[in-house]
Amino acid sequence: MSTRKILLSEDEMPRQWYNILPDLPHGLQPPLHPATGKPVGPDDLAPIFPMPLIEQEVSTERYIDIPEPVLEKYLLWRPTPLIRARALEAFLQTPAKIYYKHEGVSPAGSHKPNTAVAQAYYNKISGTKRISTETGAGQWGSALSFAGALFGLEIKVYMVRISYDQKPYRRLMMNAWGANCVPSPSPDTKAGRTILEQDPDSPGSLGIAISEAIEDAVTNPGSKYSLGSVLNHVLLHQTIIGQEAQKQLQKIGEYPDIIIGCAGGGSNFAGLALPFVRDKMGGKKIDIIAVEPSSCPTMTKGPFVYDFGDTVQMTPLLPMHSLGHDFVPAPIHAGGLRYHGMAPIVSQLLLDKLIEARAVKQLETFAAGVTWARTEGFIPAPETNHALAVVIEEAKKCKEEGKAKTILVNWSGHGLVDMMAYNAYFEGKLSDYDLPDEEIQKALRALEKFPKPKL
Ligand SMILES: Cc1ncc(COP(=O)(O)O)c(C=O)c1O
Repeated sequence: MSTRKILLSEDEMPRQWYNILPDLPHGLQPPLHPATGKPVGPDDLAPIFPMPLIEQEVSTERYIDIPEPVLEKYLLWRPTPLIRARALEAFLQTPAKIYYKHEGVSPAGSHKPNTAVAQAYYNKISGTKRISTETGAGQWGSALSFAGALFGLEIKVYMVRISYDQKPYRRLMMNAWGANCVPSPSPDTKAGRTILEQDPDSPGSLGIAISEAIEDAVTNPGSKYSLGSVLNHVLLHQTIIGQEAQKQLQKIGEYPDIIIGCAGGGSNFAGLALPFVRDKMGGKKIDIIAVEPSSCPTMTKGPFVYDFGDTVQMTPLLPMHSLGHDFVPAPIHAGGLRYHGMAPIVSQLLLDKLIEARAVKQLETFAAGVTWARTEGFIPAPETNHALAVVIEEAKKCKEEGKAKTILVNWSGHGLVDMMAYNAYFEGKLSDYDLPDEEIQKALRALEKFPKPKL
């Protein structure tokens, strides 16, 4: 019998997160205050985030200890298994070895609890009573709801309308963990009301939902805001994934040639990739690929600019690849990948050519997800299917070239609450959306007057 799963004992779980900031070859350009054009300081962020998270956002410590209460919660599902996708390899008749890091085993079903638990903990010890947040597909909202239940925090979730309608079970999961979830745009905030007046049928977007959640946090005493991706501290918390994977691969004497992750705001991709990016900067040869939808091609078509993280311009200006904060992506089923921007760390790594980006079409991603389910069994989330489409593409290339490369992918979440999306695919109701260049140019016009980052 050949080995399938590479497991770590609880004792072997990493005790620190890896912070890439001190290792970035050209550093990271600072977020700017939109009114002054000057770098934002801790005081600017204090109304929305607790101080320990603000400190992590700018920390220059290479390794940051994971607090004991967070480690204890991680043990509910971590360390996650690293699994060799032998059945997929056989189906594709590829000489490639495919390993996947199964983040779908968490209670919420994705990688998101890695940071949700950490953020809930730091809020709790800082005296926060209530957290507001946004969610796309509902994975992040459910992860924070789960974490809120563990630490006794009230959670309010603004869920992008299109996903709220497509994924009622995600809302019910949030309710089961005691959270309140409303569709965004909502009548609960000024930002939501303004958008509803202009377009009562707005499908919503992550950018709009972020605006609502921030407004909620700053207008409700005892409340803070929490973001499930994009920011440095979120990516930091996810690095437990890549560090576990490194230990697991080391156990079997393997090292990846190719690393793949899907990217919405960039956190699961970065969580797996960043510890390996460090190796790459130290001389290892690895292709590290971030995969996005062709309908929301932030990295492959969006320029590197200063832009707002949200639609109503409440966040600082972030240096990132962006399609413009007004951009409302097509209602594809991978709701977690419908974001106009990309994490500044991921954007900078792309600029530094330490990683590459690829865009894939929706139908190809579902075909990959179905192939995966019929070989490896686990049904992937529509977001994860983007990464799997590129895994299959690379494995086929290995076959053509006769190369036995080792591929490592972040299997970011299961799709058990996304079966209506699969249903739409089976019924032939899904289509591909390629974003026309004119539409990108239109959305980017709003950025013309903003400061420009160094390229
Ligand atoms: C299963 C899954 N994978 C990936 C993503 C993309 O987010 P990120 O780029 O922050 O990992 C999401 C977001 O909701 C998700 O739910």
